Amino acid sequence: TRRKQVDETLCPFRLSQEQLLLVKSRMRAGLEAGLESEGPSAIKMLPSFVYHTPDGTERGKYLALDLGGTNFRAMLVKFRKGLQQSTRLYHKIYTVPPEIMQGTGEELFDHLAECISDFLDYMGIKKARLPAGFTFSFPCEQTALDTGSLVSWTKGYKATDCEGHNVVEMLREAIKRRNDFDLDIEAFVNDTVGTMMSCAYEDPQCGVGLIAGTGSNVCYMEERDAKTQRMCINTEWGGLGDDGSLDDIITPFDVEVNRNSVNPGKQRFEKLTSGMYLGEVVRQVLLDLTRGGLLFRGHVTEALKTPGIFETKYLSQIESDRLALLQVRCILQQLGLDSNCDDSIIVKEVCGVVSRRAAQLCGAGMAAVVDKIRENRGLDHLDITVGVDGALYKLHPHFSQILEETTRLLAPQCDVTFMPSEEGSGKGAALITAVALQKQGM
Ligand code: BG6
Ligand code: GLC
Repeated sequence: TRRKQVDETLCPFRLSQEQLLLVKSRMRAGLEAGLESEGPSAIKMLPSFVYHTPDGTERGKYLALDLGGTNFRAMLVKFRKGLQQSTRLYHKIYTVPPEIMQGTGEELFDHLAECISDFLDYMGIKKARLPAGFTFSFPCEQTALDTGSLVSWTKGYKATDCEGHNVVEMLREAIKRRNDFDLDIEAFVNDTVGTMMSCAYEDPQCGVGLIAGTGSNVCYMEERDAKTQRMCINTEWGGLGDDGSLDDIITPFDVEVNRNSVNPGKQRFEKLTSGMYLGEVVRQVLLDLTRGGLLFRGHVTEALKTPGIFETKYLSQIESDRLALLQVRCILQQLGLDSNCDDSIIVKEVCGVVSRRAAQLCGAGMAAVVDKIRENRGLDHLDITVGVDGALYKLHPHFSQILEETTRLLAPQCDVTFMPSEEGSGKGAALITAVALQKQGM
């Protein structure tokens, strides 16, 4: 029957607790291997040169620049003294068009400099020469707080002549080329690190940063023993599986998504867990069901063959429990997919298994991270807060709950509180800039 065939197709997405525990232990092994190895490893474990979370004494006015998964944000952040510490924040969001993401590096950084220039005009502070923190949500090899060489692009980016280059310098040069404003870029941070810092400002127990958005990544405060200095590590956990370690859970649909991506073979864990890819996995399953005559009366339409039609926001809408099936059919209609009532039930189910697997895998990864921190500190029980950002976490109707449940189940010795970041990772970058300048005695 149709029901049975659909179930068979979806079966490999339903992970057992044993499988999730295996993922947890592979993540743990990957974290350790990344810390130990000198050479390349699936999980990069990049040092951030951030040694402490904020302590509330941060003061002053900073510019924060934030190149995230989908947007570039420029903001002005003010930390003020008083009975109650307070923060003020003004910001503007700029989209990064696909042709800029995939053009030349110079064009990309010229575009960012143009956005900054516009923001400074908008705020009326073009002459101020403010200290700035730069959040850059890609893997970078850092040798100091204010430099970072791009290891490789991830997500939708592939601008030329950036990999292997110091991207902070590239931004500085783009600003020089414009020659209409000046900035001192003091701190360069991954978005996970910025998110952790912005949450740690509110909650001192925060020692982990998670992004579940276009991409998927985690950072945490690493403190192995008294001798090694405490430092925040950007794990780049999205690379788990790049050495084949996830091959037993990867489905033929994931293989297809990986094959069609801009970076085949890379970021295998990210391709199972983040917003940029979930819709594509769903589309591959729908294609297969349609070809098998189980969906859309067997008609493979142009819409269904279009990469990227299922953006995270549509998945979130389709899976919303408040939505009647008729409304699901309306959304599918907007995407150019003609469905009947049975079709819409199946589509919703496909979205459900794909996003549930994503949340469970993130939970398994998170369980590995918090257990590692617990063991680092030699504790039987750990209370810890995870700062979180990203559209998948914030907007999807079930992702956050399944993530939290799975973490709890797989790391029973840890009490993990997930705290959504309110102001994005830019505020964290501003805090890091403030600390850096305090250290320099400014
Ligand atoms: C933002 C952070 O709010 O979330 C960015 O400020 C981060 O630094 C982004 O990259 C991630 O979310 P998404 O959904 O845009 O990938
Ligand atoms: C990708 C990037 C990583 C970033 C994450 C979330 O995985 O490689 O640096 O933190 O996306 O934006």
